[in-house]
Amino acid sequence: MLKGKTVVLGVTGSIAAYKIANLARMLVKQHCEVHVLMTQNATNFINPITFETLTKHKCLIDTFDRNFEFSVEHVALAKAADVVMIAPASANVIGKIANGIADDMLTTTVMACPCKKIVSPAMNHNMFHNPIVQDNIEKLKHYGYEIVEPAHGMLANGDMGDGRMPDEELLFEYIVKEIAFEKDMTGKKVLVTAGATVEAIDPVRFITNHSSGKMGFALAKNAMLRGAEVTLVMGKCDSEPPVFANTVKVQSAKDMYDAVIERADSMDIIVKAAAVADYRPKNVSSEKVKKQDGNMSIELERTDDILKTLGERKNGQFICGFSMETENMLENSRKKLEKKNCDMIVANNLKQDGAGFGGNTNIVTLITKDDEVQLEKMTKDEVAEKIFDFILSR
Ligand code: CTP
Repeated sequence: MLKGKTVVLGVTGSIAAYKIANLARMLVKQHCEVHVLMTQNATNFINPITFETLTKHKCLIDTFDRNFEFSVEHVALAKAADVVMIAPASANVIGKIANGIADDMLTTTVMACPCKKIVSPAMNHNMFHNPIVQDNIEKLKHYGYEIVEPAHGMLANGDMGDGRMPDEELLFEYIVKEIAFEKDMTGKKVLVTAGATVEAIDPVRFITNHSSGKMGFALAKNAMLRGAEVTLVMGKCDSEPPVFANTVKVQSAKDMYDAVIERADSMDIIVKAAAVADYRPKNVSSEKVKKQDGNMSIELERTDDILKTLGERKNGQFICGFSMETENMLENSRKKLEKKNCDMIVANNLKQDGAGFGGNTNIVTLITKDDEVQLEKMTKDEVAEKIFDFILSR
């Protein structure tokens, strides 16, 4: 995903610098070139050898270091960078960059970089809320720098407050968002549904299904990485949703219906990967149902079909549904395509090894009115990419 990309990490003097060693490692594992620039102060918190060992590149600190590979190191690196992340960014370095001061390797390189720059402030609560620092942050935003909002939590001195640098996993996501994909979905509004709906029987019990939400999450993530504005309507899912999507959490098929229909008109693409209940208990007991001798039955009523409603009222959106079958997959899926008036159905056979609920892979066939593309077994991330490639080519 990041192969062949060059990431420049700027590390300043803050205790949070230790997290950047892991960030560098995560990036190297994704096969990208990582160059670390440190301020002199940063070397008090973490040794440059740590970064040099992880990245296999010299860690640059001094602008006038004579032991260089390129002729003018800061310019060469600035040209090669696909993204720069300054993390942790101290009040001092934010102030310098915002005001055009370039007096060390980090600030001169940043000044020479035409690529996107992401800044993750890390400092004491009062420093962060100092109006001078806030003005400098606003200035950076004005010049197109992206700011990672510091988290609230325990700071280095034990105080609670704002100014905590988020964990490296989130910083990694910021970098991935910037460089992982060509931004061929910029300006597109995409709605994805994911997971299982939950239909209450009483305050204790419910009816649901095995959907994990993984396929929907992969779709939301892929569209987001390609520059789309993504809304994720999610039911019950087994993991946390991808960052950077506008997430709407719902429970029942009715909740999902309302959430999707309310937003449908403003969307360009809608992909319904959620496993929506076709039936719900006709009467939901407000009290816990007590057991009795003998059997009991629950009367079920039909839910509204969200995909069918979208198909009936569509005005320009590309509507893609999913179809999960255990037999006659192609024939049944084609019927759904027609009956629900959608533009595409992604069909998968639950009985095939490597397809369906829970796992990380899927085997799908993309079906449109006059096309049928069988994809081989691949990860859900790869399936998501193929689905949007296919939709964009239409
Ligand atoms: N779907 C929906 N609203 C429902 C039921 C299903 O929007 N109330 C959507 C699903 O999100 C999926 C597609 O319809 O994109 C296909 O769902 P599936 O359950 O496989 O098909 P059904 O039409 O419900 O037919 P059947 O259960 O008989 O296979």
